[in-house]
Amino acid sequence: MRKNLISIGLLSCLLWSCTSSTSTPDDDAAMGATTTSSTASTAQTSGTSASAGGGAGGNDAGGSGSTSAGGGETNEGGSGGTDSASSGGTGGAGTGGEGTGGMPDEGPPKNLAEKYASLFPIGAAVDSQSYMTHAALLKTHFNSVTAENEMKFESLQRNENNFTYDAADRIVNFAVTNKMKVRGHALVWHSQNPAWLFSNGSGGTVSRQTLLTRMKNHISNVVRHFRGKVYAWDVVNEAMMEDGSYRTGNLADGQRSRWHEILGESYIAEAFKAAHEADPDAKLFYNDFYNYIPAKQQGIYNMLKGLLDQGVPVHGVGLQAHLNIEPSTVTTNQAYHQNVANMEEAIKLYSSLGLDVQVTELDISLYIPGVTYNQSTFYTTATFTDALKAKQAARYREFFELFRKYKSVITGVTFWGIADDNTWLSEFSSGRKDFPLLFDVNHTPKPAYDAVVGF
Ligand code: XIL
Repeated sequence: MRKNLISIGLLSCLLWSCTSSTSTPDDDAAMGATTTSSTASTAQTSGTSASAGGGAGGNDAGGSGSTSAGGGETNEGGSGGTDSASSGGTGGAGTGGEGTGGMPDEGPPKNLAEKYASLFPIGAAVDSQSYMTHAALLKTHFNSVTAENEMKFESLQRNENNFTYDAADRIVNFAVTNKMKVRGHALVWHSQNPAWLFSNGSGGTVSRQTLLTRMKNHISNVVRHFRGKVYAWDVVNEAMMEDGSYRTGNLADGQRSRWHEILGESYIAEAFKAAHEADPDAKLFYNDFYNYIPAKQQGIYNMLKGLLDQGVPVHGVGLQAHLNIEPSTVTTNQAYHQNVANMEEAIKLYSSLGLDVQVTELDISLYIPGVTYNQSTFYTTATFTDALKAKQAARYREFFELFRKYKSVITGVTFWGIADDNTWLSEFSSGRKDFPLLFDVNHTPKPAYDAVVGF
C-alpha cells in the first residue's frame, strides 16, 4: 500500500533540485524539506526531516532478519550528558542529570520500556511487516505500538463503506497478545485519503453535508471497531500551519486540506465529538509537527483552547517530533526553532490547558534542514561515523531529559519506527538513507539508545 503511494508520484526530480511536485504527501514532505519553511506541510513534518532532504513516502522493505534485542554496543556518545547510573526508575523527573544510584558498570538496562515504566509508555510505529520482522526488539523494548499507515483513511476505507480492517487487526492482535498499548493513527488528515472521499462521483467536489456524513461514518465505524483495544486516537492530524493559521484548501496538492476547504474549521470539533461518541473511554488527541515553532505552538494552543471552551472532548496533544541532529542555521527554516527550550514551551502551553501531552512520532534525522545534500553526501552505514552517532545520542539525551522533566503531563513517547533498517526517512527513490532511531540496521542498540536509558 505504501508502495502504491510512492509510485504515484515519487520525487521525479531529485530532492535537492525539486521545484514542484504533486501527488503524495511524501513528496510534499520532501518538498517542505528542501524549500523554505513557510509553507512546509505535513509530511514535511518529515519534511522536517525532510528539511534536510524530505521524508519521502512509500514503502521500504524493512525488516531484514535479525532480531536480537538486548546486547550490543554501548559506546556512550553524547556530550554533556549526565552519566550512566540507573536511577531505579521511579523518580526520573529531573531535567538535568540526576542519576545517582548504582550499577555503573553493568551497562544500560536491556529494556527500554522497563526503564521508563514509572514515567510513561514507550511506543514504536510498526507496519504490516515490521511487527513480525522486528518482533524481538518490539517485545523487549516497547510497550506501545502505533500502526504507521494501516489505520489511515485510505487503508481502512479505500472504497466507500467497504471497511478493510485485516492489516490493522493483525497489528492490534500482536499488541494485545504481547500486552502492549495501541495508539490509533489517524482519523482525519489531509493526506492518505481515497479519491472518492472528496468527490461527488460525477467529476465535482462533494457537498458539505455529504462530506460531513462521510467523516462521521468513518470515525464511528473505525473507533467502534477498535473500541477496547485502541486506548488513544489521533483524531485530527496536522490541521495547523507554521504561522499558526489553519491549513486550508489554498495550498499545493498534497499539502492542502480538503476537509477545511469543504467543511471549514468546524470539521475539527465535529471529528472529536464523533470519536467521543463512538468510544467514550478513548483518549482523543490532536496531533501535529513543528511544535517548537513559537507561532505554530500558539496557533495550536488557541485552537485547542477554543475547542475546550466549547466543551469539545479533546484530551491530549501529540507532538510528532520528527527532529534533526541539529537545528537549522537558516533563520527562515522551520528547524531554526528546533531546540529543547522551544519544545518545552509547547509542553507547558498545552499542558496548561489540562491536556495530556504525548510524543507521537519521534525520530532524529542525520540531515540538517537548510543544508543541501546529494548522492555523494547522503549518509550510508559507512559514513554514519562514531562521532555522528555520539552527536545523535547527545541530541536524543537532551530531548529525553526534557520528556522526563515533564513526566507528570507526558503520557507516552512513541518512536516513528523501531530500527534503522526500516524508517520512513529512507523511503526515497533517490536512495537517500537515514539512521534516525535507537537501534541500528542490525537491530543492535546505538549510542542513542544508551543516551536514552542512561539516567
Ligand atoms: C508517514 C509514513 O511513515 C510513511 O510510510 C507514509 O508513506 C507517509 O506517512 N506525519 C504523520 C505520519 O502523521 O502519518 C506520517 O507517516 C509521517 C508524518
